[in-house]
Amino acid sequence: MSKITITAALPYANGPIHIGHLAGVYIPADIHARVQRLRGEEVLFICGSDEHGVPITLRARKEGVTSQDVVNRYHKIIGDSFKELGISFDIYSRTSNATHKELSQVFFKNLYEKGAFKEIRSEQYFDEQAGQFLADRYIVGTCPSCKNEGAYGDQCEKCGSTLSPTELLNPKSALSGTVPVMKETVNWYLPLDEIQETFLNEWLGGKSHWKSNVFGQCKSWLNEGLRPRAMTRDLEWGVPVPLEGADGKVLYVWFEAPIGYISATKELRPNDWEQWWTGDSHLVHFIGKDNIVFHCIIFPAMLYLRGDGYVLPEQVPANEFLNLEGQKISTSRNWAVWLNEYLEEMPNRKDELRYVLTSIAPETKDSEFTWKDYQTRVNSELVGILGNFANRVLVLMQKYYEGVMPAVGAVREPYALFDHGSAGDHPMVVEYLRPVVDLLNNYQFRDAQFKMMELARLGNKYLAEHEPWKLVKTDAEATAMVLSEAVQVLYNLALLMEPFMPDASSRLLSQLGVEVSTDDKQPFWLSGPQPGKWFELAEGHTLGAAGLLFQKIEDDVIEAQIAKLQATAAR
Ligand code: 2FM
Ligand code: ZN
Repeated sequence: MSKITITAALPYANGPIHIGHLAGVYIPADIHARVQRLRGEEVLFICGSDEHGVPITLRARKEGVTSQDVVNRYHKIIGDSFKELGISFDIYSRTSNATHKELSQVFFKNLYEKGAFKEIRSEQYFDEQAGQFLADRYIVGTCPSCKNEGAYGDQCEKCGSTLSPTELLNPKSALSGTVPVMKETVNWYLPLDEIQETFLNEWLGGKSHWKSNVFGQCKSWLNEGLRPRAMTRDLEWGVPVPLEGADGKVLYVWFEAPIGYISATKELRPNDWEQWWTGDSHLVHFIGKDNIVFHCIIFPAMLYLRGDGYVLPEQVPANEFLNLEGQKISTSRNWAVWLNEYLEEMPNRKDELRYVLTSIAPETKDSEFTWKDYQTRVNSELVGILGNFANRVLVLMQKYYEGVMPAVGAVREPYALFDHGSAGDHPMVVEYLRPVVDLLNNYQFRDAQFKMMELARLGNKYLAEHEPWKLVKTDAEATAMVLSEAVQVLYNLALLMEPFMPDASSRLLSQLGVEVSTDDKQPFWLSGPQPGKWFELAEGHTLGAAGLLFQKIEDDVIEAQIAKLQATAAR
């Protein structure tokens, strides 16, 4: 057994979660965490709200409330919606709490005392009326490229150019509207250029087995040459810099947010949290592509400098982006499907969302969600293939055997589903179960789910081929064999579904009349030298009551969602 710390990017608590976050980060992370638990590993699945950073202060200003108000509101919305979707975090913490503040300050001090930082003086824009330095986002002006007058100090949202505040024409403070002045300030920088030479080049060089989108992005950062980056900022909202004379400065949000994974672990396991971050514990980060540099370069550099046996990430299976109905998902334009609204407006359809988002997960390139495609996948795959197979088997079992597994005599061709006399590993394990497990081990969740559905497809094909509803009139023995084989397929399918669709899996297991503990399931999930196991329900076992596993989605429901998206989009 190994200890595995699985982290999912801490979402900014300045808005709800949308389907892009889910497809890119939280659903794959949850599948992975569930699989590792099923394998009997010791897992901590860590997440929480990222409650600092400039976007939060901007939203608070816009709404005329405090930053703490904003994060309190969204922390609750986000946490509740994750829970309802069945994202199985062991903790959903937050970075505005005391444990986090203390731990990130200790981390900073530790690096400071090791001489890891460079103290650098620079000139930054300062708002004399407001009496504070201005974060890039707090400076607005004219974009030098497209002349858009509402460009921000870090980016022009009209033409997409990345900017630095000094490039803006006619800069103005977003706080007071006055023209900011340049003022000298001191901050502490991580000399990433030096760390590249001493550590990152070599460490990242050994990560060619990472996903190519992740490894490729890391290589291009290194090729361009890293530059020192400030780990403290002149801001009010954040974790105060724990040094004398550093009043009015906070830790850079990207310095302390990843430490949030560690502080959440400490909060959850006050007595042995360090064991999850040192020694031979395994660390896996689930993130979106915009977080790669922070999780593959900056945070590992911090952990490396910290030393003390801290582990480095073993895998960072970052995904690309999900688009929505032909456009980029955008919070500011309200072009998104928000999880909290989905859960409310599409009741009892959690696994449908999990299933569809896994089917279209942007694992290797950007992908696309459309409501029509969602409807098709639910109706033709979940209802038409999986639900239909389950229902046909369970209803026929009730009809012919009152739900009790019949005696099956000697295996008879051509009714057998697979070669029962096979001397090697179980043919169904070889053909179906192990490929799913192998794909999961390789972070290919989308293909794994597709392969899982092949088992349902096989079940349907098998029923269509032997037509037990006709066979029953002429050959009782063959009927018992066919239906019993079909039940076994359904049983293994129910087990295999769990990480993808935990709710539907447990409903199906109860329709099958089984209660299995995690321990019982383990042999199923072991891969490598162990063959895995094909589970079978014994003769005489009583099935539960059959019910519909999934419900068809009607056109009007989908049309209403499309209309709502169009109507609420900001123009
Ligand atoms: O991109 C984001 O939403 C960040 N809040 C992710 C932070 S991940 C980690 F560093 F905490
Ligand atoms: Zn522009």
